[in-house]
Amino acid sequence: MLDLQDYGITMWPEDKIIAFRKALLDWYDANKRDLPWRRTTNPYYIWVSEIMLQQTQVITVLPYFERFLDWFPTVADLAKAEEERLLKAWEGLGYYSRVRNMQAAAQQIMTDFDGIFPQTYEAIASLKGIGPYTAGAIASIAFGLPEPAVDGNVMRVMARLFEVDYDIGNPKNRKIFQAIMEILIDPARPGDFNQALMDLGTDIENPKNPRPEESPVKDFSAAYQNGTMAKYPIKEPKKKPRPIQIQAFVIRNQDGDYLLEKNKQGRLLAGFWSFPILETQLVSQQLNLFEQEQEVVMESLSQTTTFEEKYQLTPDWSNQTFPTVKHVFSHQKWQIELIEGVVVTDQLPADYQLEWVGLEDFEAYPFATPQKKMVEAYLAGLS
Ligand code: ADE
Repeated sequence: MLDLQDYGITMWPEDKIIAFRKALLDWYDANKRDLPWRRTTNPYYIWVSEIMLQQTQVITVLPYFERFLDWFPTVADLAKAEEERLLKAWEGLGYYSRVRNMQAAAQQIMTDFDGIFPQTYEAIASLKGIGPYTAGAIASIAFGLPEPAVDGNVMRVMARLFEVDYDIGNPKNRKIFQAIMEILIDPARPGDFNQALMDLGTDIENPKNPRPEESPVKDFSAAYQNGTMAKYPIKEPKKKPRPIQIQAFVIRNQDGDYLLEKNKQGRLLAGFWSFPILETQLVSQQLNLFEQEQEVVMESLSQTTTFEEKYQLTPDWSNQTFPTVKHVFSHQKWQIELIEGVVVTDQLPADYQLEWVGLEDFEAYPFATPQKKMVEAYLAGLS
């Protein structure tokens, strides 16, 4: 198990943990929202509510929840539902993969679990579309198992309680909050404990306008006591993909074969083949870059060479133009300009993995999406 000390977090002594559970659950008992899925321990109903509540607010979910259970009252009904009716039941909620996954999971329950909703965390988590949060929610609420249900709300509340200096937006850090919750969760009332934190996180401790003075657990909160509420939770803004201008060289030899290069290990799209590409300075210079990013770009600028220098080939360039190719990675946004040329001598430098390949043999080479787009744009430009 993860050691919280390694993350600069000191867990409370037992008496404080017990007092915290009481403060939170007393508040919940007095203030909990009366919601239909809180009047049942039927795991199927709770599952439906939890899936609907992903990315969707309680107020929106309410009418959908009632109608869904009216149309599909049991797991068996969901398993055999017609697709059209299923999508109709979900119409307007969006993220339709949620309901498709639910049906697949319902079928899993029918075939692998004799139609009986699985009753352990691991078995619940083995169902399609059910991740650690949802498995924890169902296990605790329906079966009273001491399993945390760690979502953004819970992470926010925990980050303030313990001044957790780790980004709650980074999935790698979820385990820290999971470890805290495994200790804090009340084994006598785990479902209520989890739902109390959901209520606290969506209301008093909401992300935009929290009202810390009103929090039932402010006396336990390191951030509240130390005046650091504004700092927690740590949430790094997602970086926008950096625009990069690329030139791709479509070079033919006298036989009409094309020059392809295999991307080096450790680089983006390692192992895939592509027309040789070079990053150009143009767009980088026009950018409004953050200082630290400027360094990265300057570094790449200083490495910029010409095609002739890099590959020791001297093509005759054509004037043919091609559609610009765009491709967005999570961290880079490529704008690719295709440049066509023909070489007479086709001796290749040994420093790179290069091959002359006929168009008809392209299929044998692994191409990533940007290269597929480049080939399409090239052929479109020719036609
Ligand atoms: N959001 C996700 N699950 C919830 C629940 N059980 N109650 C209220 N809001 C929720």
